[in-house]
Amino acid sequence: MKLQGESLSNVVMELEARKSKDPDLNSAQLFGLVYPTGREDIEALVSEVSQMYLFENALNPFKFPELAHLEEEVIDSISSLLNRKKTSRRAGAMTSGGTESILMSMSVHKARAVARGVKSPKIVAATSAHPAYAKAASYFGLELVQVPLDKFYRADLDALKDAVTDETAVVVASAFCYPYGVMDQVEEIASIAQNSGAGCHVDACIGGFVLPFLEKLGTEVPLFDFRVPGVTAISADIHKYGYVPKGASVLLHRDDDWMDYQIFLYDRWGSGLYGSAAIAGARPGAPIATSWAVMNYLGVNGYCELIKSVMEVTGKFKNLVGTIEGVELVGNPIGPVIALESDEIDLYGVGKALEKKGWHPNLNTSPKGLHLMFSPIHSKVIDKLCSDFEEAVIDHEKPTMGVVRYS
Ligand SMILES: Cc1ncc(COP(=O)(O)O)c(C=O)c1O
Repeated sequence: MKLQGESLSNVVMELEARKSKDPDLNSAQLFGLVYPTGREDIEALVSEVSQMYLFENALNPFKFPELAHLEEEVIDSISSLLNRKKTSRRAGAMTSGGTESILMSMSVHKARAVARGVKSPKIVAATSAHPAYAKAASYFGLELVQVPLDKFYRADLDALKDAVTDETAVVVASAFCYPYGVMDQVEEIASIAQNSGAGCHVDACIGGFVLPFLEKLGTEVPLFDFRVPGVTAISADIHKYGYVPKGASVLLHRDDDWMDYQIFLYDRWGSGLYGSAAIAGARPGAPIATSWAVMNYLGVNGYCELIKSVMEVTGKFKNLVGTIEGVELVGNPIGPVIALESDEIDLYGVGKALEKKGWHPNLNTSPKGLHLMFSPIHSKVIDKLCSDFEEAVIDHEKPTMGVVRYS
């Protein structure tokens, strides 16, 4: 840090210059990491509410009781969206994101397993599960047992059955997974978990704000939420298809008393009782307030409208892929996340050609190919994306030395 600070305008100017080197969210050329709606009303609401709650701290609900009530209402709304039966106690918490929700769930499942006598608790998850499970295993001294995928890129149920033992703390089902947008068979997985005394965590970090609305729109969505017996916890991210800025997710438990394993209480210091329901201590108010605001503003109908437009975009792109010989969708993606593979066409080369046209597609390593997540804003550019993709397939460069660098 410099001894003498810069002028306000210099600071802002430098940030503007530096930000311009990163991709422009409103160009609609990113496919993941961000979920722009392209809707001025939603962005204006989020900006205003973020400004209102810029410096609040949700750590202490006694100092910011109304912020705590907003958080409770967000948790209650998502609990009802995911068909959690109302109980006398709230069994959920907001966290900073999918990773933190998963970390807390794995920690709670571990504690539950230890309480029933498990000596070396394990997480069983398909290879398509998010890295957060490996992170949890590494942080909390759990073992991650990975199971392969079936030919539809879902968890292989036979392998999963074999992997689950008395030592299993939790079995993971993705609804749906990041790499392919494919849903695991939640009902079967939860039943396997339940029969062994283990918990079942449903990773609805992406699907939590997609699947309930697809179901309401009439799409056949396999049961994935608390209606499924044996599902013990669900993570759902508001900062993905809930369309709020980063820092907003929920973890929900089926049973009230599981929160006892999540809440950390401590009073052996000089400042009284300290309590916290997740990893972070101080927590920003804006993710809570923007979640509350956007969920109340859009309502179920607003979310349905948005996901309908996202699925139209996804459908258009999938139809195009169907016409391109040699390029296949990976598995059977249910929502707006898709992956492409090919034995004949170098899709990394296609990705590079798309990058030259300004797009930022993601790459998958297994199977080797492209990965796309569509957001509402893509409805503004889908025709251009389709024509650029067709051109890229025709014109793409062959990789030199058999290695394609992706950045
Ligand atoms: C299925 C799934 N689970 C968990 C996560 C982790 O979420 P976050 O990046 O918000 O920590 C992601 C992120 O993309 C995801 O796709």
